[in-house]
Amino acid sequence: MKIADSIFELLRLRSELDKSIGFVPTMGALHEGHAELLRRSKAENKTTILSVFVNPTQFNDPKDFEKYPNTLAADTALAEKNGVDILWLPRKEELYNDKYRFRISENDFSHLLEGRARPGHFDGVLTVVLKLFQVVKPDRAYFGEKDYQQMELIRDMTESFFLPIEIVAVPTVRDQSGLALSSRNQRLSPEAVQEAAKLYQTLNLKITSAEATMRLQELGFKVDYVKDYNKRRYAAVFLEDVRLIDNVEL
Ligand code: PAF
Repeated sequence: MKIADSIFELLRLRSELDKSIGFVPTMGALHEGHAELLRRSKAENKTTILSVFVNPTQFNDPKDFEKYPNTLAADTALAEKNGVDILWLPRKEELYNDKYRFRISENDFSHLLEGRARPGHFDGVLTVVLKLFQVVKPDRAYFGEKDYQQMELIRDMTESFFLPIEIVAVPTVRDQSGLALSSRNQRLSPEAVQEAAKLYQTLNLKITSAEATMRLQELGFKVDYVKDYNKRRYAAVFLEDVRLIDNVEL
């Protein structure tokens, strides 16, 4: 596995590798969910590029940004194990050479659900993903369905700007209890990890979103939202001050 820490180096390494190119953009703190994205990319492309970049513009809460885990050694090992060809570690100064003067904003879906709870979040996500896409120029890019709203917005942006990239949605990876794997789970105590599984269980009940909200509150979650949108139920809750999101098809 080659490691690139500049755009120049990434482009140089990329030019030596065969097409097609699969791309997995991440913010690190990699887990089995990311490994699944890498396995899909590996199976469907000749070359797989992984990026690890904790994108500051998508954090509306600076404390959340500061607390974001940095596990580069473990991430590198996971990347190597899963056959990544190039690990790209973009630098903020290089990616945001414009100091975020130019940005992508979507004026509809990005203001609902996560976007409503976290103003500006999706501007940051869409902007960084477009920048990453412009450099990597992948044939396919892989996103987890745990962040379903993010995946849909990225797919729509890709279509809107005629980018020749296939957006591949990969089903959420869950642990045995049903808890969706997430880098944030690392911040939960062992007891809270047990409790957190009840979020998915509750979302699967045949009850209204208002009933689901009440049930989650009774179970000790602080509920940010439970909302039905386009045949999916989306939820964001807090447990031990850790914000967890999940969604299920209705
Ligand atoms: O899902 C993530 O890890 C991030 O939002 C992404 C897509 C890598 C953009 O920073």
